[in-house]
Amino acid sequence: MAAEATAQLNRERIRSMIEREAARLDERTQGSAAMYDRARRSLSGGVASSYQARDPFPIYLTTGAGPVVNDVDGNRMWDFHNGFGSMVQGHAHPAIVRAVGERVAEGTHFAATTEDGILVAEELQRRFGLERWRFLNSGSEATMDAIRIARAFTGRDQVVKIFGSYHGHHDAVMVSIGVEYDQIGDRENYASLSYGAGIPQAIVDLTVAVPFNDAGAMERRIERMVAEDRKPACVIMEAAMMNLGVVLPEDGYLEEVRELTRRHGILLIFDEVKTGLAIAPGGATERFGVKPDMVTIAKTLGGGLPSAAIGGSEEVMALVEDGTVYQVGTYNGNPLCMAAARASLLEVLTPDAYAHIDALNDRILAGCQSVIERHGLPGYAIGIGAKGCVTFSPAKVTDYESFKANQDVEVTELAWLFNMNRGIFMTPGREEEWTLSVTHTNEAIDAYVAAFDEMAAELTA
Ligand SMILES: Cc1ncc(COP(=O)(O)O)c(C=O)c1O
Repeated sequence: MAAEATAQLNRERIRSMIEREAARLDERTQGSAAMYDRARRSLSGGVASSYQARDPFPIYLTTGAGPVVNDVDGNRMWDFHNGFGSMVQGHAHPAIVRAVGERVAEGTHFAATTEDGILVAEELQRRFGLERWRFLNSGSEATMDAIRIARAFTGRDQVVKIFGSYHGHHDAVMVSIGVEYDQIGDRENYASLSYGAGIPQAIVDLTVAVPFNDAGAMERRIERMVAEDRKPACVIMEAAMMNLGVVLPEDGYLEEVRELTRRHGILLIFDEVKTGLAIAPGGATERFGVKPDMVTIAKTLGGGLPSAAIGGSEEVMALVEDGTVYQVGTYNGNPLCMAAARASLLEVLTPDAYAHIDALNDRILAGCQSVIERHGLPGYAIGIGAKGCVTFSPAKVTDYESFKANQDVEVTELAWLFNMNRGIFMTPGREEEWTLSVTHTNEAIDAYVAAFDEMAAELTA
């Protein structure tokens, strides 16, 4: 919750601190600048994915070990980015290195299921309480296939999602994410806006966004869709939003969504690409005690290898089993990925590991909150499991509208630069949060809090 802010932030000072820290970072990362000059001649924008780009140039990494990464300039940093939340195991975890090493020597791909895939499915079934599983290679593939299964199950085309939520880069979900505010319209009746070009408007129009943490608005929109003869197949959502910093569900919200989707015969998909395996052994499904019809998991699943999964009830997944829906892919259940996932689930992400992560997150959240209160900064620390952030906002953020209206873009930018110059590797972009790993220590946490304290002191001096 937002603490009483006493400090009046001096905008000129923030901007001069940004300028100073940006210059310092440029100076310390000249190897990345040179690599960018070379990379952009062959790689579009000098990066493999647009989310890796950064102005004036991206930071190129070389190696990682446990909670530490190194860049091409030899800067050694505590990793709080963790591959957009994929590396809850830490880098090069011995159990995963061993499992992958053994598997490499035994053949890496057959397009036939190996026993590791069965072990992983059994463990996911146990953790999430959903009966049937399939594998894929990325979070985007998982949400794409989950929506297709929901459409087939219900015989309907429309999809409801949460305004501002990211579910991957396929057409059905690249809708109403980072939009211009004057176009989105009324909260009760948001427009369906394409996220980037190249998505047919006919597909965009099939997806309707509603605000997070407002079951009433969701139900009213669904009722209007029913009246317009376009009842949705599914609601796809994160149970806790992870692409606006962290926004937790208000008490009772998820239960209401579960009740209303069930009452209307609409499938509920929890997109656990970020939350699954990172915030609890059984993800948000376990942590919040609300069971969806399907979950999608990726990121943490493969310990850094491209892996994803869909879990669903026996009834829903029967459409996959009987061939009604083609849930397919050459690399699905790839032996190397499954070996990594098996080692990760059975040897690394143990109950003790989750207890360690929870204790670390309590420490970083308490440390950051104490900095905020001592300096009277507008903002609050918030998190769950391996995830968290400081939200620089004078008011509590509950959805995308309150995030956009209140988040202090300049301080968020400054915090990223400040961290990078003090050995804290964070995701560029103001919507992201930290991810802790099982290999993080109190020393790493205290380094993060110390960098934040230094920034807060200078900001409010
Ligand atoms: C909640 C959520 N769903 C889906 C995706 C897409 O996953 P991927 O990038 O593996 O395709 C992401 C990626 O950040 C995500 O955060």
